[in-house]
Amino acid sequence: MLKNNLQELQQQATPFYVYDLNLLRQTLQYAATEAAKYNYHVHYALKANANAPILAEMLHTGFGADCVSGNEVKRAIENGFKPEHVVFAGVGKSDEEINYALEQDIFCFNCESSHELEVLNELATAKGTKARVALRINPNVNANTHKYITTGLEENKFGINAWELESVLELLKTLPNIELIGIHFHIGSQITDLSVFRNLCTRVNEFQEWFISRNITLEHINVGGGLGVDYYTPDSNLIPDFEAYFGLFHQFLEVRPGQQVHFELGRALVAQCGTLISKVLYIKKGITTNFAILDAGMTELIRPALYQSYHKIENLTSDKPEVRYDVVGPICESSDCFGKAVMLPETNRGDLVAIRTAGAYGEVMASGYNLREKANAIYL
Ligand code: LLP
Repeated sequence: MLKNNLQELQQQATPFYVYDLNLLRQTLQYAATEAAKYNYHVHYALKANANAPILAEMLHTGFGADCVSGNEVKRAIENGFKPEHVVFAGVGKSDEEINYALEQDIFCFNCESSHELEVLNELATAKGTKARVALRINPNVNANTHKYITTGLEENKFGINAWELESVLELLKTLPNIELIGIHFHIGSQITDLSVFRNLCTRVNEFQEWFISRNITLEHINVGGGLGVDYYTPDSNLIPDFEAYFGLFHQFLEVRPGQQVHFELGRALVAQCGTLISKVLYIKKGITTNFAILDAGMTELIRPALYQSYHKIENLTSDKPEVRYDVVGPICESSDCFGKAVMLPETNRGDLVAIRTAGAYGEVMASGYNLREKANAIYL
């Protein structure tokens, strides 16, 4: 896709993000078809990418919105998502954010602690309204992923731990403006080992039994997101295996009559359609390596610096024999490095470089460090 559009790419000021909307549409269609087989509902996790053209595709596909801040709730609603299709999660929702979401009468608050439930009840009472709530439960399932994006272990800050549930139910009896409608789980991100989701299903089934034994019926089971993508060979796996993913939940998750199952996918829907394009500024000889110094840095894509994550790097404009480079950015931090010992066609000043699989957690995590300007985005 990128090489076919080289002329257009060469006309843009670098660095910039380019999104392949055709690939996005194909990905969403496939996800929607596979989810529909089992009547599953998908809420797109805006935190992965909240650009308006991306949101328009999500809306068009019929997905709802999963938000983790008041501004995400606002962005979703301003971009056409109906409040009844918006869920709001997060360990630290502020009063202002909660009030805004209550005013919008969103579908559900995913609540992460007793204290939050008390505050939500207080704010809902003040507004003379009721908040629909799903309890985010920490299922203590290991996601086998990077420690910074593991969320479902008891040591993590997320969710209510199993041993607290009894007291939360007691508390709920005293909170008249909270309506318990479901349970919510999210164990981590970039999960490539599907057996992890099977373990999650087992735990969810156990929790459901626990609620049923207390005569509580839950209308909604939200199993979160987390499905990973192929950062190493993106072209062989542009679209994740949603058939296997949803099929696994269908096989292992026990669903009661009338119950709705929700998913909150982010990365799997948008990662492959986005690429960061950058220009080579300088080539510098080091002691053991050559540095290719780009005009994009950790301010545009922080994932390699923050999680030591791999992104495939391609030189779009050179077809010379390969040479080894450390590909780095211009920011005054040693961690501002996109890849070490990367084999690239001999690279020169002015070449265009593509950093692939950057559609999720790329632009949204950009910063203004070193007073950098925000990179532009184009859509093909
Ligand atoms: N639901 C909840 C409650 C979440 O916390 C997340 C992601 C998602 C859904 C969507 O997860 P996904 O399907 O995208 O894996 N910045 C990191 C990823 C952080 C994920 C945070 N939570 C990265 O660049 O890898």
